[in-house]
Amino acid sequence: MQTITGTDIELAKEFLCNGDLVAIPTETVYGLAANALDEDAVLKIFEVKNRPRFNPLIVHCANWEQMEKYVKNIPAKAEILAKKFCPGPLTFLFDKQDIIPDLVTAGNAKVAIRIPDHPLTLALLASLDFPVAAPSANPFGYISPTTAQHVFKNLSGKIPYILDGGVAEVGLESTIIGFGENEQVILYRVGGISVEEIETVLQEKIIVENTFGLNKPETAGQLKSHYAPDTALYTGDINQLLLQFAGKRVATISFFKQYSVLPLSNQFILSPSGNLDEAAKNLFAALRTIDELNVDVILAEIFPDKGIGRAINDRLNRAGVENK
Ligand code: TXA
Ligand code: MG
Repeated sequence: MQTITGTDIELAKEFLCNGDLVAIPTETVYGLAANALDEDAVLKIFEVKNRPRFNPLIVHCANWEQMEKYVKNIPAKAEILAKKFCPGPLTFLFDKQDIIPDLVTAGNAKVAIRIPDHPLTLALLASLDFPVAAPSANPFGYISPTTAQHVFKNLSGKIPYILDGGVAEVGLESTIIGFGENEQVILYRVGGISVEEIETVLQEKIIVENTFGLNKPETAGQLKSHYAPDTALYTGDINQLLLQFAGKRVATISFFKQYSVLPLSNQFILSPSGNLDEAAKNLFAALRTIDELNVDVILAEIFPDKGIGRAINDRLNRAGVENK
């Protein structure tokens, strides 16, 4: 199959209406989209990604009104959060309507659903009379793509079309939340919207269940090894790690620091000005570039554990050798 990359929304629509897959840009990472109401189309996602069927997919809608057709019992708190963060990198777990196939939710009575914030994809979604199911457009377990070129590298020959929307602005996957008793907000995956941002809007503490390494596949984003480069990755104090791996070919990932003992070409400084949002945006591209450098190990700093820094640390931990 020939894979075309372009910005033609009409063509993307044609493929989706035909039951084919299209890679779509979002503000978080690129998604691999199919008509969420068409089981045969959704099956292709699992095949192309080599993704286990027990791992459910996020459904993407153009707006809140469209979303309401596919879910029920929306808690009042979700509406408050949506006013602030939708469209945006926040995914909700809501009770699903019957029209959403069990294949999409892996049998779960709840569906993960969000409104992505990207002009091309919003225009595409608004032109469809169905929502799209879309996991990140990478082979299962590998690093999520943040450019159309990343998608092409991983999936060319396997999908007909990549809608090119440039570099993903956020660069990390969406935050996933659900609602427990009394509408208590439970966060299942740290991502583009921070814990602090949600707590500020709701004026209350939320439960963070992003328990790393639980390996409960039925729960969002909690597979142990994930987002992983092929190269072994260690997180910690870089100076110490450099001693530990003396004699090895090394690349580093740092927030803003430079390490004088290493050539600059092996150092990936994610934000020289010390901006966590910028660091998040650059993380996955850096991991992919390092994977092509042919080094023995990647040594990564631990980032400030606040705001989107938590999501950066989460992805680095999941990419680490301890979890392979
Ligand atoms: O930013 C994102 O969320 C990107 C873009 C493309 O929207 N998508 C994404 O999808 O990261 P994926 O499939 O790579 O990760 C979705 C996570 C998975 O860990 C899955 O287990 C969880 O969401 N999930 C999806 N549906 C669920 C459901 N019904 N119940 C529990 N977890 C669910
Ligand atoms: Mg993924």
